Amino acid sequence: MTLNAYLASEVSDPDLIDLIDRIASACWKIGQVVRDSALDGNQGHAGTVNPQGEEQKPIDLIADDIFRTSCVQNSNVAVLISEEVEDITTLSTAQSGGFVVAYDPLDGSSNLDVNLSVGSIFAISRLGADLDPLPEGRSLECAGYAIYGPSTMLVLTFGARVVGFTLDVTAEDYVLTQADMRIPAEASEFAINVSRSRHWDAQVSAYVEGCIAGPTGPRGKAFNMRWTASMVADVHRILMRGGVFLYPTDAENQAQGGKLRLFYEAFPMAMITEVAGGRASNGQTDILDVTATSAHQRTSVILGARDEVTHFDTLKSHT
Ligand code: AHG
Ligand code: MN
Ligand code: MN
Repeated sequence: MTLNAYLASEVSDPDLIDLIDRIASACWKIGQVVRDSALDGNQGHAGTVNPQGEEQKPIDLIADDIFRTSCVQNSNVAVLISEEVEDITTLSTAQSGGFVVAYDPLDGSSNLDVNLSVGSIFAISRLGADLDPLPEGRSLECAGYAIYGPSTMLVLTFGARVVGFTLDVTAEDYVLTQADMRIPAEASEFAINVSRSRHWDAQVSAYVEGCIAGPTGPRGKAFNMRWTASMVADVHRILMRGGVFLYPTDAENQAQGGKLRLFYEAFPMAMITEVAGGRASNGQTDILDVTATSAHQRTSVILGARDEVTHFDTLKSHT
């Protein structure tokens, strides 16, 4: 089944179908730019920084431009929130019911020069009557990501199930390859940047020590560990074969509230995780219940296998 056939059967709003179609095309183009980025010299420094003070690469800005240009062609798009742009973009036509699209145009861009997977992440909601542009996690209508790996894939949810499409370059179409992506409740693989362990709090340290201790430790089994440094790639692995992903606040990043951003990284991945049967927590609250006050607000993220996230939460009371 093609993406367009799937959208026609699952989505009743033609405006939403049009928007997803435009985002899918944008991701196709971004994937092509990623593929050619070394040849085109787009992997170096752009000489600018994003709202978080991180250096931008030319390709971060190109991906933002492709994503933005595609979205605004849908006349019902009201607001854009991008990782690469300080200010929220409110279109002059914005009105209640218009789409709010929050997106990370290129996730994991530190992986580009080593030719590993990167991606794009997005969340779609509607502008309410108060015209507040900041979405609520439980109000998302659609969340998704594209992964630019050995193949380009688009993973989507509208709240009922998580589905994956693979780009068939020859047929020039996305084809449904994962009809119902589920995250098993139990896991024996975790993902965390261990180089930050000196900054961890007692809860995170206790969790990881429990995993590393293996069969004779408190967990009573062996765990494997993976860290891609591309959230899209790590979350995609968890959707395909299970596991848990952690990017917690720690002593070094807590002044900023963590590393990952709520609206265009944590919210969409949390919705995808929950719909796939997993959990997404900030260590205290389910991420989708967190309210935010600024476009680039950061959060602690612990997501994936339901029982692992719950186990992580229980360690709070012991620390
Ligand atoms: P981005 O490339 O959009 O700035 O996001 C990178 C994020 C995320 O993809 C990944 O999980 C994390 O940063 C990696 O951080 P470390 O380099 O600290 O491992
Ligand atoms: Mn990112
Ligand atoms: Mn990014």
